[in-house]
Amino acid sequence: MRAHLAVLPGDGIGPEVIAPARACLEAIAARYGHTFHFEECAFGGAAIDRHGEPLPRATLQACQAADAVLLGAIGGPRWGGSAARQRPEAGLLALRRGLEVYANLRPVQVQPALRDASTLRPEILDGVDLVFVRELTGGIYFGEKRRTATEASDLCLYTVAEVERIVRRAAALARARRRRLTSIDKANVLETSRLWREVTSRVMAAEFADVTLEHLLVDAAAMHLIRRPRDFDVLVTENLFGDILTDEAAMLTGSLGLLPSASLGEGRRGLYEPIHGSAPDLAGRDLANPFGAILSAALLLRHSLGLETEARALEGAVAATLEAGVRTADLAAPGADTLGTRAAGAAVLSRLRPRA
Ligand code: IPM
Ligand code: MG
Repeated sequence: MRAHLAVLPGDGIGPEVIAPARACLEAIAARYGHTFHFEECAFGGAAIDRHGEPLPRATLQACQAADAVLLGAIGGPRWGGSAARQRPEAGLLALRRGLEVYANLRPVQVQPALRDASTLRPEILDGVDLVFVRELTGGIYFGEKRRTATEASDLCLYTVAEVERIVRRAAALARARRRRLTSIDKANVLETSRLWREVTSRVMAAEFADVTLEHLLVDAAAMHLIRRPRDFDVLVTENLFGDILTDEAAMLTGSLGLLPSASLGEGRRGLYEPIHGSAPDLAGRDLANPFGAILSAALLLRHSLGLETEARALEGAVAATLEAGVRTADLAAPGADTLGTRAAGAAVLSRLRPRA
């Protein structure tokens, strides 16, 4: 097949993790006879420096015209601080909204080779296989913000339609997996959460009676996630809770650097990014873990291009690389041998050679 892919390396370690992810996509194309056309676009702090804004119009248009978008990471101290006029993060939110990718899938699987890499006891982690479905284009991230000299506020707003569509997406995913859906809210305090819970219960009863629904308050969910992670299948939650809980869930796998994400809307086009940030302290030092970005490329193959065999080949190559003992610094035991970003990426690539 032919596909047009927009690539946004971004800031910090973004370009370093995107290079091997793109190389893996090129290797997959060569091996399976596809043609991927890549278009690199300015985004984030790098775009502020060059074009005066984090999401230039040309970048948004290129992303809207593409079959899928692969993004590294954005942000850094250079563009932060309370005096900052333009923030890279604002560009990311505008991109998510501009592409209408309201469903952010964050799969969390513990790789057998890494059961000792987590700070949690290995026996808690065996068999963990869950997916967060984070609402990505609503809630407090996008509500009206106000600031005076003595006060500040952020509005959290959800419509019934926004809750319905994310719950349907999560429930359909649960139906294709182990038929368990956990909805996370703060219905004992927040009105938006009470709406969330009512809509979720109604949609599930009417359309997904074959999927078991559990409601958890977000504070309890944070606890159960590290106490009994194996019990979870699909978890659906609003934007901010999903942001926080997926960093926590990443710790089940051993490193934030391993987690990929897929942001999807109504069509096939999606936005794919590792969940980690731009890690300015690691930038330019060949220290970043490229696996989260490479696994995001695998999600791109699966969800936007419908290439399931190819997605599995790429995921298998990452698993085999980890089984062979390849460790980046974030995954290694103290004193153990580690590989840099480039060498770790090359180790995955060597497992994707064209078939003889
Ligand atoms: C994430 C990130 C972003 C978010 C930041 C960079 C705006 O933390 O994708 O999880 O909060 O959504
Ligand atoms: Mg986050």
